Amino acid sequence: MTPPGPSERSSKRLHTRTSSFGSPGRIGHDASKFYGSRLYDGKAMGGPDEYVENPIEPASLDRVYCKSSENMDELPDYSVHLMVTSPPYNVTKEYDEDLTLDEYRGLLKRVFGEVYRKLVTGGRACVNLANVGRKPYIALHSYVIQDMQEMGYMMRGEIIWNKAAGSGPSTAWGSWRSAANPTLRDVHEYILVFSKESFSRSKTLGTGSKTLGTGSKTLGTGQKLPGKESTISRDEFLEFTKSVWTFPAESAQRVGHPAPFPVELPYRLIQLYTFKGDVVLDPFCGSGSTCVAALKAGRHYVGYDTKEDYVRLAEGRISEYGQQLSLIGKSLSPSSIEGVEKVSPSGEQGAIPLKLSCDIIES
Ligand SMILES: C[S@@+](CC[C@H](N)C(=O)[O-])C[C@H]1O[C@@H](n2cnc3c(N)ncnc32)[C@H](O)[C@@H]1O
Repeated sequence: MTPPGPSERSSKRLHTRTSSFGSPGRIGHDASKFYGSRLYDGKAMGGPDEYVENPIEPASLDRVYCKSSENMDELPDYSVHLMVTSPPYNVTKEYDEDLTLDEYRGLLKRVFGEVYRKLVTGGRACVNLANVGRKPYIALHSYVIQDMQEMGYMMRGEIIWNKAAGSGPSTAWGSWRSAANPTLRDVHEYILVFSKESFSRSKTLGTGSKTLGTGSKTLGTGQKLPGKESTISRDEFLEFTKSVWTFPAESAQRVGHPAPFPVELPYRLIQLYTFKGDVVLDPFCGSGSTCVAALKAGRHYVGYDTKEDYVRLAEGRISEYGQQLSLIGKSLSPSSIEGVEKVSPSGEQGAIPLKLSCDIIES
C-alpha cells in the first residue's frame, strides 16, 4: 500500500473518527458513526425550528419573589436563559416538608416543568443535589435525571462537585476497619446539566427566521441578537469545562441558611452557560447565592423562595454585594448590568437596559 502523502497525513492528524478501539484524538472529530449507532435509536436531535426569546418586564427582573415556584406567572414563557438551583432535599431541614419520594418527585416535576416553559430555546437548567441515606442509599440524582428527560429536557452532562477540601471529616464510616459493614462517606455532590430544545445558543440566527414574542421583532437569517457576549476567561473556560470541580462548601452558620451553596458554584455555571446581560433564575433561591453570582457576572436574576426569612436574607446579601460594588465604583441598578450593547446601523455601541435585549440589529 502506498504510504499517505504529506497532505493526507496532516488531514489524518486533524480529523479523527470514532474508532472501534477508542481514540484519544478529539480535534475535528467526526462522530457521525457513533451518533448513527443503535445506542442513539430514537434519540437523534435535530435543531429547533425556531429560536424563541421573549423579554421580561424590567419591573419583574432582579427580584426575589416570596412564593412557590410551582407557578412563575411573573415571567413570560421563553424568557430565562439559565436556571441554577439546589432543591430542598426533603431530609428534615427546617424548610423541608416530610414528603414521600413520589410526593417529592412531584414537587420537583411541577417546579422544573414550570422552569421548562420559562426557558428560551437552548436555555440551560443546572440542578445541584446530593444523594441521601445509607440503608438504603437513595440516589436522588438518578430520579431527577429520569424525570427531567421525561419532561423534555436534553441532558448535557453531569459535574461532580468535590467539596472534600471544605467538608469536615465525617466519621460515619460504619464498621471501623472491618468488612462487616463499612460505609461510604460522600465528599461530593452532583450538578446535573440540561438544555431545552437545542444544545446550542447561537449568537446569530440559523436558517429561517425566529419570532421573539410580543414587543419583539422577527429576525431574519444571519441577523445578530444584540449584546450576546461571553465573559469567561481562557483559564476559567479550561477549568469550568472539566467534569470534576473542587472547591469548599459554604458554611450554613456564616450565611444564616441551613443549606447554602457557595457563590462559586452558580458563578461557574453562569460564566460557562450564559452571555452578558442574560437572565438567571433560581426557583429555590434560599439565601440568594445565585442572585449574588449573577450580579458578580453582570447578569440579571430572578429568585423564588417560600420562606419570608430567606427572601429577606437573600435581599440583604444582594444589597450588601451592591454596597461592595459601589465601593469600587460600580452600581447595581438593572441598567448598569451591561447586558445589552446597542449597535446602531452606523456600528456605534453603548450600554442600554436589558428591556431592549430583543431589539433587532438592522443590517
Ligand atoms: C437547598 S435550599 C437552597 C439554598 C440556596 N441554594 C442557597 O445558596 O442559599 C432550598 C430552598 O428551597 C425553598 N423552597 C422549598 N419549597 C419551595 C417552593 N415550592 N418554591 C420556592 N422555594 C421553595 C426552601 O425554603 C429553601 O430555602
